[in-house]
Amino acid sequence: MEYSVGIIGVTGYTGQELLRILRRHPSVSIGYLASRRLSKPEPVGKLLPEFRADRKLLIEPYDPSKIAGRCDLVFLALPHGEAMKLAPILLKKSGLSVIDLSGDFRIKDKTVFRKAYGFAQSDAQGLKSSAYGLTELFRESIRNARLIANPGCYPTASLLALAPLAQQKLLPAEGVIIDAKSGVSGAGRSAKDDLQFCEVNEDMRAYKVGTHQHTPEMEQALGWISKKKTTLTFTPHLVPLNRGMYVTAYVPLAKKISFAAVSELYNSFYDDEPFVRILPEGVWPQVKTVAGTNDCEIGLYLDPSGKRLTVLSAIDNLGKGASGQAVQNMNLLFGLPETTGIRIGHEGQ
Ligand SMILES: NC(=O)c1ccc[n+]([C@@H]2O[C@H](COP(=O)([O-])OP(=O)(O)OC[C@H]3O[C@@H](n4cnc5c(N)ncnc54)[C@H](OP(=O)(O)O)[C@@H]3O)[C@@H](O)[C@H]2O)c1
Repeated sequence: MEYSVGIIGVTGYTGQELLRILRRHPSVSIGYLASRRLSKPEPVGKLLPEFRADRKLLIEPYDPSKIAGRCDLVFLALPHGEAMKLAPILLKKSGLSVIDLSGDFRIKDKTVFRKAYGFAQSDAQGLKSSAYGLTELFRESIRNARLIANPGCYPTASLLALAPLAQQKLLPAEGVIIDAKSGVSGAGRSAKDDLQFCEVNEDMRAYKVGTHQHTPEMEQALGWISKKKTTLTFTPHLVPLNRGMYVTAYVPLAKKISFAAVSELYNSFYDDEPFVRILPEGVWPQVKTVAGTNDCEIGLYLDPSGKRLTVLSAIDNLGKGASGQAVQNMNLLFGLPETTGIRIGHEGQ
């Protein structure tokens, strides 16, 4: 069976990455691509030269009435605050599912949401019915939802790194430090002065220290897994890479453990997960080995006390951190193998 899918916001970085993956997906056809920049349908190559060899595929001005009957599922690849306006309209069409890549439906507590994003969450029904789309950790609720809140990129890398500890009650209530780095595509495509090439090249800087909206998203998900409140110290940094994300989490363990036990915990937790690789002792993740894929690599270091664990995790912010994971969630919703149409590892590996 072939499913028809749409992308709203296809001209952005995550929208383009979705199109790259979905054009090669064996069970999907592209039913609708939308951009605000057009007043009439145009070949995709007009706005996205990378795809100009495809002369039949069109981008259209956004019109929700056109989606009914043309799509089984729509990806919203829009800035925060836009999906909460569109999702309620789209979900009125029976049989249509929505995967939102923004933060609009990730944080369930409206007060926490307002503090994190600086504006109110206005779609209470969507917030209640949506599933948090970190596939490996919340598969069952994703399978049964029509609206998926695809996770943030930092939360994806960090939660995959910390989930086995949270599930085994090894994560302390406080004292966990997440030091994280992102490539510049993580900030989106819209031009901003401080993201120009000359500003970011040869530089490295922290941003939103103590105030990043992904902190409450991660604390919420860890609470769901461990059934207790966890407070994190999270510091994001911008590094001069196009794509890629690296998380180093420092964890004072709730009890002493051996390296063999912690390694066994991670390996058994992710044993059946095709996109998560636990690296052997002394081998550390690299952005280069995950860039362009939907993979997450995790490395572990336990200091000699047996009480302080360092967990290192690398993903592609546009892959597992956004569009790759969104397609993984789409496969799950359609009842397809999660790996369908998604690359594992690099060519030649
Ligand atoms: N970049 C990442 O690594 C990443 C990772 C995880 C999650 N996300 C989230 O995914 C969403 C999309 O991110 P992105 O990086 O693809 O963003 P982006 O590159 O800035 O693209 C967003 C697209 O949304 C469209 N749009 C529609 N309404 C808009 C409005 N009111 N203001 C500005 N643009 C509007 C624009 O396309 P038209 O002008 O053609 O309509 C734009 O190309 C964001 O919510 C982001 O936080 C991003």
